[in-house]
Amino acid sequence: MTLCCVCLPANAQQKTPAATRSQQREGAQIFSTLCASCHGLDGHGGERAPDIVANPEVQKISDAQIAKIISQGVPGTGMPSFRSLGPGKVQAVLAHLRALQGQTSSSPLAGSPAGGRSLFFGKGGCSECHMVNGVGGFIASDLSAYARTISPAEIREVITNPNKYLGARGNEVVATTQDGQTFTGIARNEDNFSLQLQTRDGVFHFVEKSSLRDLQHRTESLMPSYYGSRLTSQDLDDLVSYLIEVSRKHAIPQAKNNTESSHRADDDLD
Ligand code: HEC
Ligand code: HEC
Repeated sequence: MTLCCVCLPANAQQKTPAATRSQQREGAQIFSTLCASCHGLDGHGGERAPDIVANPEVQKISDAQIAKIISQGVPGTGMPSFRSLGPGKVQAVLAHLRALQGQTSSSPLAGSPAGGRSLFFGKGGCSECHMVNGVGGFIASDLSAYARTISPAEIREVITNPNKYLGARGNEVVATTQDGQTFTGIARNEDNFSLQLQTRDGVFHFVEKSSLRDLQHRTESLMPSYYGSRLTSQDLDDLVSYLIEVSRKHAIPQAKNNTESSHRADDDLD
């Protein structure tokens, strides 16, 4: 067995067109911030909006028509207009929606999801920052449905190389107020005058920049960069398959009562 960190699949990854991958990420991000509150993180519907993933009627709508629905909304219904997104972002969300719709869940998993789960909540420390199915930390993204649209190779790459993969998105910001209070967290929204900072406890702080004595943007991701060296290849496979399994389960639409009637023999007491 040779251990060689230089020959990890970095080359293979570079063949994927960067534009498509960053567009996919952008689409997933927009979906989770703008659409998930009504349609659910996986698009399978919620209290306020229908399933737009498994519904064959929606799958049949053309790309152009969906883009129009996103930017113009559906007048007279609860579907708002997202005109301000602009064509590029509308395309990104559309691509994400198509990826959700096309998701298949048949390929076998390389690692052990159970092993991955104990790493996630145990020595991996992932749950200090990330949440899965309502359990875990608040500071980083909820990973319950993350693996639905991201390939196993990419998940592995994020875990082993967060600085490269996440860009500035996961970088920590340290804000010090005039009266000496310090807030450390992630900038969720920033313009020239203000900053919305989410601290590790998940709390959002709105800060006027004029009230700050100092503002520093760290160049490293808050997500630790040591997993590639601290975790074994098997650990990584386990984590990846755990995230995939979780996302598959997350994706199963709520069973409807009417499906019971066709299987009633199962419940018959005879
Ligand atoms: C405030 C809640 C809400 C938000 C946020 C929302 N939707 Fe909807 N959406 C709805 C409702 C309600 C409908 C059902 C409209 C109807 O009755 O035809 C719908 C329908 C749709 C449809 C199907 C339209 C059809 O003709 O069947 C698509 C596609 C869609 N939404 C995409 C999105 C996308 C993409 C986003 C995020 C950019 C989004 N929605 C955000 C409430 C919402
Ligand atoms: C100290 C906090 C921290 C820890 C510990 C941590 N992460 Fe992260 N992770 C982050 C941040 C911050 C991001 C950037 C996304 C965001 O801003 O929410 C991120 C991003 C990710 C992403 C990409 C998600 C996306 O939205 O693009 C994955 C996948 C991920 N982490 C998996 C893991 C796994 C698996 C572990 C454990 C082996 C782990 N993380 C441990 C903070 C952390």
